[in-house]
Amino acid sequence: MSDITLNIDGREVKAKEGMTVLEAAHSADIFIPTLCHNEMLEPYGGCRLCTVEAETRGRTKLVVACLFPVQADLIVRTRSETVDKIRKLILEFLLAHAPDSEQMKELAAEYGADKDRFPKSSSFCILCGLCVRYCAEVVKKNAVGFIDRGIRKEISFIPEIASKECWGCKECFPLCPTEALQAAYVLIDSLGSLTPASKSAPEK
Ligand code: SF4
Ligand code: FES
Repeated sequence: MSDITLNIDGREVKAKEGMTVLEAAHSADIFIPTLCHNEMLEPYGGCRLCTVEAETRGRTKLVVACLFPVQADLIVRTRSETVDKIRKLILEFLLAHAPDSEQMKELAAEYGADKDRFPKSSSFCILCGLCVRYCAEVVKKNAVGFIDRGIRKEISFIPEIASKECWGCKECFPLCPTEALQAAYVLIDSLGSLTPASKSAPEK
């Protein structure tokens, strides 16, 4: 892989072909906020919080840094009036789901996002997909997945798999930027759906 030099926030940054702008920025200790990215997982591009300005041959466009590949002579601006406005709006929308999440509160303070701009949602999940992808890509069990579509889309544990796999795992819990995952787990557990056969009451 050949070296590529790009410019991020006025600094020359060396990157390898195939890297994303986010990877190049992080390798140079330049912070770009993310909510759906995790180095262990394939890029997803779901939250759009990592949006940056990318300029090539005098033309500027908005791209998501976790998906956009580095290229020679690319000029990246990780903060600008436009970028900050987009991040503020994304955060305000997501805060309707998770106003008490510590990670969201810190981001909201940084971008001046108003947690009350949009009506509160009954779901705490921001649909970042970290739990779903971690279980599929790393644990390879698919014990948690997305159900439904559009505004009804939500995560759900798959009882037949979760009852066998989740008790001793729960590795996805720390990845969740909100409390949605644990809440969903506790809910389905309280309904008895996750009680493994070995722990259920003996039949009389
Ligand atoms: S439950 Fe948490 S980790 Fe899973 S998609 Fe929702 S916010 Fe993301
Ligand atoms: S971190 Fe890039 S879209 Fe979520």
